[in-house]
This record gives sequence, structure tokens and C-alpha cells, in this order.
Amino acid sequence: MSNAETNSESFVEMARMNDDTATLRLDGIPADTLSKVQKYLENFQLSLEKLQIISARLRKDMIRGLGKHTHHSASVKMLPTFVRATPDGTEKGDFLALDLGGTNFRVLHVRVVEEEQKVLKMDYTIPQKIMVGPGEQLFDHIAACLSKFLDLENLKGQTLPLGFTFSFPCEQKEIDKSILIRWTKGFDCSGVEGQDVVRLLKEAIRRRGDYEIGTVAMVNDTVGTMMSCGYKDQSCEIGMIIGTGTNACYMEEMKNVTRVEGEDGRMCINTEWGGFGDDGSLKDILTEFDEVVDKTSINPGVHTFEKMISGMYLGEIVRLVLVRLTEDKLLFKGKASAALLTQGTFETKFISEIEEEDTGLETAKKILTELDLDWDSVDARVVRLVCDTVSSRSARLCAAALATIANHIRVNRGLDHLETTVGVDGAVYRKHPNFSDELQAMTRLLAPKCDVTFILSEDVSGKGAAMMAAVAQRLAL
Ligand code: GLC
Repeated sequence: MSNAETNSESFVEMARMNDDTATLRLDGIPADTLSKVQKYLENFQLSLEKLQIISARLRKDMIRGLGKHTHHSASVKMLPTFVRATPDGTEKGDFLALDLGGTNFRVLHVRVVEEEQKVLKMDYTIPQKIMVGPGEQLFDHIAACLSKFLDLENLKGQTLPLGFTFSFPCEQKEIDKSILIRWTKGFDCSGVEGQDVVRLLKEAIRRRGDYEIGTVAMVNDTVGTMMSCGYKDQSCEIGMIIGTGTNACYMEEMKNVTRVEGEDGRMCINTEWGGFGDDGSLKDILTEFDEVVDKTSINPGVHTFEKMISGMYLGEIVRLVLVRLTEDKLLFKGKASAALLTQGTFETKFISEIEEEDTGLETAKKILTELDLDWDSVDARVVRLVCDTVSSRSARLCAAALATIANHIRVNRGLDHLETTVGVDGAVYRKHPNFSDELQAMTRLLAPKCDVTFILSEDVSGKGAAMMAAVAQRLAL
């Protein structure tokens, strides 16, 4: 048996392991083409055994991140959030929330009456030039959007508590003092890293002078997600995002949070798992395509794990594979278009659309036409296979990381069996047709002693941030 045949068979085997429909994906691709294509795809295939190894590495890194003397150099930051309490149901009244973390910026007004939450929200965009401009300009823009919203809602003149979901790695000093460690996900505003983000926001509001805000509580989006789901399910103690970026938080025993005084109770830890691998620990699983994505990003060497998983990068990984397959004459008769050769043209949402069971192939053809490519029906199938392979790796890596956290909580508590709930948000998880199924199935395999329930966050992490503002206000009174 030739090498190519062996590889091709193991590839089919891997595809079967991925999900029952995966073999369907191979239909209609001639064996010869398939075995050549798979040479480029096999490095994306992660066996259960490999995922277990990755999980063990992450566990080690999490321990380093938590350690008093090791956290400085840890790639998984494990940031204390100062969130010790979850809503207790007594929080009532009007709250504001800001949610900044992707390309959209959201402002919310949350009214809590008798456990009913009424949410009004507005989305504003952050223009690209503001995303990479001076920090002052970014905060002036945020303060201006908030001002518009308050006018619209007729809320100027009131001093409402504000929850601020700021989805970047921050060294939290207090619930209302949080230092940005570094920008991620395409943001790069000058003069903000190393600064207290709450202070920058308050200063921008003061510069305007047309409204005031009350107590501020700042949280990461993972924390907001956990909080908003925790309102419904008390056992929700993990928050996970798989959207533009990826990350998770969980409730850790205070005795393990050695960087913060006190031994009793629990504190939520923002893992910043996106940074896993930044010390080279994932080198063996990086493909040539991951390396290009990293090199051409605005933050090379930063957030290695995130770049293999999240929405900001998945489309670009697929595009790079397609370019490579075209160079090798395995696609589009060897002819790439200018669009295909341009960074960022293959959007991550295309992956979800192309992987739709019934309509996917037709959509693939439409997208390939829009990208100016001369395709045939085998090309469309190969493209779908590439999408499937890249998104499946993402789901598996997330599962390995989530299983690590669940196992860690179980061992912490000395339990043989843990029942826990994870609150999830993010477009990749929500919109992809089988991402959540694969993630859940793999998590079960990787954390067999944990029974993990998944709840989709209903109203974005902003609502959770408003709840945090409510808790902060209650504790401040
Ligand atoms: C990035 C940020 C992190 C955030 C995640 C999801 O990884 O560093 O803080 O939670 O994206 O939005």
C-alpha cells in the first residue's frame, strides 16, 4: 500500500470520528484528488490522544498562571476578576451596560423588576481607524455613543450604575480598576496598554460633561456570560466565548488564588486561554497556515490558541489552504483570483454557510463565484471539506480546553463526579451548524467524569455586566 493510500485511509477514519456526516463530505471527490488534498489537511486532524496531551499541557499552564511566583511568565494568564458573588435575586432597578470586544460596541439599559429583566440595547460600530488610533479617541467615541443612547432613552440626569464588559486581558485590581495588559482581536489603540480602563472611560465622560454615571463594575465577556446564565442556573460556574476571540472563566477556590489575600470561598478566574501556546508549547500542532496567520496578524506571537480557534481567524486559515491547494493545481484548474489572494476575503461566516447540510454546496458555489473563481462541482466539495476540517479542529481544541477546566474543578473539589454548567456565547458557537454538537461530544470524551450542561447566553454578556453593576452597588451600600 502506498503512503498516499495509507494516509488517505487514516484520513477517512479521522473524518468518521469527527461526526457521522463527515464521510458524506468526502462524497464526490475523486480518490486521487482526495488523497492529495488530505496531505494538506492531515495536520489539522487531532486524535483523541493528541487532544488529551494538549489538555494536560493546558492544565500545567493553568497551574503556572495561578501561581504567585510563576504567573508573571505564564502564557495562560489566569487573571483574578474580583468577582466573588453572583446575583442573589435582590438586585432591582435600572442599570447601564457597555459591551466592547468585537467590531460592534453595544450599549444596554437593563431594568430589573421582580426578577423580570427588561433590556433595551443599541449597537454602534467602531470604525477601523478608531480601532487602531489613539486611545483617547476610542474612549471619546464610546462616551459619545453612550450619550446618544441616554438621550434616546431619556436617561440623562440620572446617575445609573454601569457594568462594563471589556473583552480584553486585564489585570484587575478591584471590580472598578482594571489595567489593560494588551490588545487582542484587531484592536491596537495607543496609550491604553498598562492603563486603568475604567479611569479612561470616566475621564472621557468627564470631558463631555453632559451626563454622569454611578458605580462601575468591569468584567470580561466570559464573566458577563457566566453571570447572565447564572441567573437562570445556579450551577453555572464556567463562562465560555467562541466568537471573534475565544476565552473562558470559571469559579476557582480562593485558596488556589494565591495572588489575592484570603482563603475562603471562590473567585472567578479569567483564564485568557487564547494565550495558550504563546511560549511555543503548541508548536507541534501548528500548521504552516497557522504560522502565516500569526505572522500577518497585527500581533504576531500573541494568542496562538485563539488564532487556531476563533472567528477572527478561521476564514483566513481556510483561505490560505485554498490558495495552497490552487498552487498545487488541486483547485480551480490551478488559477487563483485576485480576491482569493487578498487577506481577509474569505469570511468566517462563509464556513458556517458552506457547512449547512442541505444548502451548503450551493452556497459554496455562490461564494466561489463572488470570489471570481473558475470552479467546478468537485472544487465546491473540496472547499466544503476544507471548511469542515478547519472548523472541526477549532471545536476539538475548545473541547480539550473546556474539559481541562471541568476536570480541574472536579479535582479541586475532591469529587469523583462533577455536574456543572457552562454559559456560552459567540458567533462561531451560535451560527455554525455542527460546531456545538462536536464540541459537546468531544468534551464528554475528554472529561468522562464530568457531566457538563451547556446553556446559550440569552442576551449577550452585557446583561451579565449590568448584573455585576447591581451586585457591586449592593456591596457598596
Ligand atoms: C480575547 C480577549 C479575551 C476575551 C476573548 C473573547 O481572547 O483577550 O479577554 O474574553 O477574546 O471575546
